[in-house]
Amino acid sequence: MRILFIGDIFGTPGIKAMQQFLAAVRDDYDFVIANGENAAGGFGITRKHFEQMRTAGVDVVTMGNHTWDKHEVFEIIEETPRLLRPLNYPPGTPGLGHASFASRSGERIAVVNAMGRVFMEPLDCPFRALDNLLEHHPKDEALIVDFHAEATSEKRAMGYHLSGRVTAMIGTHTHVQTADERISKGTAYITDVGMTGVQDSAIGMAFEEVHYRFIHKLPKRFKPADRQGAVRAISLEISGAKATQIERLQWPLS
Ligand SMILES: [Fe+2]
Repeated sequence: MRILFIGDIFGTPGIKAMQQFLAAVRDDYDFVIANGENAAGGFGITRKHFEQMRTAGVDVVTMGNHTWDKHEVFEIIEETPRLLRPLNYPPGTPGLGHASFASRSGERIAVVNAMGRVFMEPLDCPFRALDNLLEHHPKDEALIVDFHAEATSEKRAMGYHLSGRVTAMIGTHTHVQTADERISKGTAYITDVGMTGVQDSAIGMAFEEVHYRFIHKLPKRFKPADRQGAVRAISLEISGAKATQIERLQWPLS
């Protein structure tokens, strides 16, 4: 089974790049996951963005620290398991952090979204939340983890924690693709898949305002970068619940 994981789709340039990319490659994959928490100009996702992703061929959209930025997410997340929020929010949080789906090949595949706690909101422990999930997860069913976290150390530690226990741990949130992809004990790993959006930007925002804030330490509203976007993604080859190949994708090359 071939799986595509598209990195954090940021704003309109990210949506357009995702649409163009999937129009070209969607049929090469049995299942497509995308992180969509930055679709609305960097802050959350609207119904329009979610539907644009689904129409383009994304099977499930994962989120992160910007999950709740747009109010309509509360409706969407109750309607469908195809929009996942981090698993380790407190009990009673709307929506799901984990769900299982049928792929195009007919094999089942589960997806889980979890969030780190270093330099982020202090949620429940993501390591224990994933341990609890794995106790009940069928061993022969593929499980892809989107670990949305800031600190490289926490992501590397989670990769170690999950090695041999899940099909893949794909890091998201930091928006710059890392070159440390590997497979260990049948588990594919990368610290960060990168961002689908304007690459020549301050991780999706125009440089000017971000630079001003660093230099002057005064408030200035960020503006999403408005240029041609590009895709950052991971292509996975899996056999049963084990990963056999991981490849970083940059499209178009830029
Ligand atoms: Fe994030």
